[in-house]
Amino acid sequence: MTVRLERRDQPEAVSRKPWWRRPWVAPMAVIVVVFLAFSMPPYLAMDPARSQVPQPPGFTSHYWFLSAHVLFGSIAMVSALLQIWPWFRAKYPAVHRKLGRVYVFAGVLPAGVMALTVGAMSPFGPATRVANVLAGVLWLACTFAGWRAARQRRFADHRRWMIRSFALTMSIIVSRVVGPITVITLQPQLETTFGGSELALTQSVAAITAWLSPTLVIIATQWYLDRRPVKKKPAIAR
Ligand code: HEM
Repeated sequence: MTVRLERRDQPEAVSRKPWWRRPWVAPMAVIVVVFLAFSMPPYLAMDPARSQVPQPPGFTSHYWFLSAHVLFGSIAMVSALLQIWPWFRAKYPAVHRKLGRVYVFAGVLPAGVMALTVGAMSPFGPATRVANVLAGVLWLACTFAGWRAARQRRFADHRRWMIRSFALTMSIIVSRVVGPITVITLQPQLETTFGGSELALTQSVAAITAWLSPTLVIIATQWYLDRRPVKKKPAIAR
């Protein structure tokens, strides 16, 4: 019997280009380390007074949910970086499989569930809440689809869903760029567009950031995937 496999449907079909010839790996790692170095301390401190997100009324355990989200999110971020790195996958395929489980079950799953909880209760208003919950659902769904595809040995689908999952994991970093740009753009309109209301300005900035960051990331990812679709390779006979 002849089984036809596309090259990218094989788990080992990854580029063996060394890491120094992939100019995005090192800068990405530096960005992740800097992001975590600034973001984690307030939530490792076990001190609710250090939270960067105000506690929503009536949600007294908000800080602990948020801290758990940040901790598991950090696990997701570091493992995602290693998982997406072609050289690492090619060199250590067994570690890739184990770390994949860490990414899904000790990273995205708990961090995503916490994101849904803190997101639905966000102090930044309803538009931000909807964006947060939608992004959390997409994050969990893409990751689950990628994990299931790997289990079913559909490696081309696994690659596509995990690239989307990775992009959503990194969308928090994109929000750190979108947020300040939004503040700089809208701050001068405090007295005009927002009628002097700091609350309206804050909620608008948060909502624009929460909507725009994952949207930009999803569009960029789809563009990347469409540019580099699975190529129909000559069949490999077994
Ligand atoms: C798509 C995935 C993610 C979603 C939907 C999400 C959602 C959220 C939500 C809802 C909040 C609270 C803000 C609010 O109430 O509006 C938050 C805060 C935070 N998240 Fe995530 N998150 C995601 C991924 C990550 C990842 C991967 C990390 C990595 C560590 C992370 C780190 C943080 C940090 C540090 C904060 C606190 C904000 C601050 O200190 O400025 N998040 N996230």
